[in-house]
Amino acid sequence: MRRYHVTTFGCQMNAHDSERIKGLLEDLGLGEAPTSEEADVVVFNTCTIREKPDTKLAAYLGEAAASKRRDPSKVIAVGGCYAEAQQERLFNLYPDVDVAFGPGSIAHLGDWLGAGGVGVARGRFGLDDRAFAAELPQHGERTHQAWVQVSMGCNSTCSYCIVPSVRGREQSRRPGDILAEVTNLAATGVREITLLGQNVNSWGRDLLPDIHTEFGELLRACDEVDGIERIRFTSPHPKDFREPVIAAMAECSAVCEQIHLPLQSGSSRVLKAMRRTYDRDRYIALAHKLRDRIPDVALGTDIIVGFPGETDADFEETLAVVAEVGFESAFTFVYSPRSGTDAAVMDDQVPHELKIERMERLVELTQSIAKAKNEARIGRIEEVLVEGPSRTDETQLRGRTRRNTTVNFTGTAASGTLVDVSIESATSTTLRGRRVTADNDGVITGTTGRSGRL
Ligand code: 5AD
Ligand code: SF4
Repeated sequence: MRRYHVTTFGCQMNAHDSERIKGLLEDLGLGEAPTSEEADVVVFNTCTIREKPDTKLAAYLGEAAASKRRDPSKVIAVGGCYAEAQQERLFNLYPDVDVAFGPGSIAHLGDWLGAGGVGVARGRFGLDDRAFAAELPQHGERTHQAWVQVSMGCNSTCSYCIVPSVRGREQSRRPGDILAEVTNLAATGVREITLLGQNVNSWGRDLLPDIHTEFGELLRACDEVDGIERIRFTSPHPKDFREPVIAAMAECSAVCEQIHLPLQSGSSRVLKAMRRTYDRDRYIALAHKLRDRIPDVALGTDIIVGFPGETDADFEETLAVVAEVGFESAFTFVYSPRSGTDAAVMDDQVPHELKIERMERLVELTQSIAKAKNEARIGRIEEVLVEGPSRTDETQLRGRTRRNTTVNFTGTAASGTLVDVSIESATSTTLRGRRVTADNDGVITGTTGRSGRL
C-alpha cells in the first residue's frame, strides 16, 4: 500500500483542512506513514501569514527534495496559503514539487493523484471556484474534539494581512450542513467542537436573502445537539461581536467561557492604519461587557508589535490596554511585511531591534498577567475534558478546562470524559491538580456545570 504524510503549518483552519486532506488520501487507498521520509506522497499544508512559516517550509522542502532524489517515485504536494500566494511561481522556486493547490482547491488533489496516489499533475489555484474543505471526507486526529468549518474567506481589509488574498471573500456554510456535521460528530463520540472561520462571528451575513440568521443562532442550535458538551469558536472580530452572540454565550450551557478576541494594537491611531474599524475605547468597552455578561470568561488575544509608524507612545498604549483588560492568554507577533498588502509599502517601517525590544516587554507583561490569572484558579475545582496522558509525565493525565487552560493532573479517567480537578499550582500557561471524586474529597462529581470554588 502506498502511504502519505501531511505536515501542517499555520492556524486551526489549516489543522482542519489537513484532516480533510488525510481523509481524501485515505479514500484513494493510501495509508498514513509516521514520517515524510517513509511516505510515497508527501504533503505540506502551508501558511504565509508571516515570513517565518515561509522560511520553515523551505527547510522542509529541501529535505523532501533530497529524499525524492533517492526515491524518484515520491510525490511532493504543496497546499495551503503559501501555495495560493505563490501560485505557478512555486514550481520555479521548488522544481521538485509535483502538485500544488490553494486552500479552496483541496478536492482536486484527488483528481490529480488518482487511485493509489500515483498520478502526477501540476497546480490548481484561484478563488473563483472554491469548495468548502468541510465537505471532504474527514480523518479526525482527536477522538473527542473536532473542528467544524462554518465559513471560508474574510471580507475585512486589515492592511497587514495576506489572508483575504489567499482565502478570498467570506462565504458561509449553510446552517443545515453545519448542524448535520455536528450531529454526526456527536454520534461518533465527539464532545467538544470548535467552530472555525477567519471571521467567525460575521457568519451568516452572506446567506441573505435565502436564510436570515446570525452566529448567535448557530451557537444556540449547536448547544441543542445531544452529546456536545463544549462549544468553542475562533476567531471573532471585535467589530462583529454583537448582542445576540453575547446573549447566546451567557445562556447556552455548552458554550465555553472562553473568547479569543484579537486586539492587534492598543493605539487608536495604529488601529486606524491597520484598518481594524474599532478603536481602543470600543475594544475596552467590549471586553468589559464580555466580563460582565459572561461570568468567569477567559479572554485571549493576538497582538502585533512594530506595525509601520508605531511610536513608543503607541506601544505604551498597547501595554496599557493589555494591563486594563488583563488577558488570560496572548499570542504576540512581530510585524512581518507581506508582499501585496498595503502595510508592506508604508513609510516608517519600525527597525528590527526596536520591534524585538518591544516584543520582550510585551511578552513579559502578558506572561505575568496570565500567571496571576492562573494562580487565581488555585483552590478551585475545574471541570476538565480528559485528552490523554500528560505530554511531560506519563503518570499524569492531561486535559483542558472550560476556559481552555491545559491541566496536568493525578488520578485515573478515560479520555473524553469530563472530570472535576482540584487545582493545586499554576504557571503562565498550565495548571496542575488532582482529580477529585466523592470518595476522596466529599465533593459531588459528575456534573457538567460550570466550575466553582471549593
Ligand atoms: N505580521 C505579523 N503578525 C500578523 N498577523 C497577521 N498578519 C500579520 C503580519 N503581517 C497576526 C495577527 C492575527 C494572527 C493570526 O497573526 O495578530 O490575528
Ligand atoms: Fe496561515 Fe492565515 Fe492561511 Fe491560517 S489562514 S494558514 S494563519 S495564512
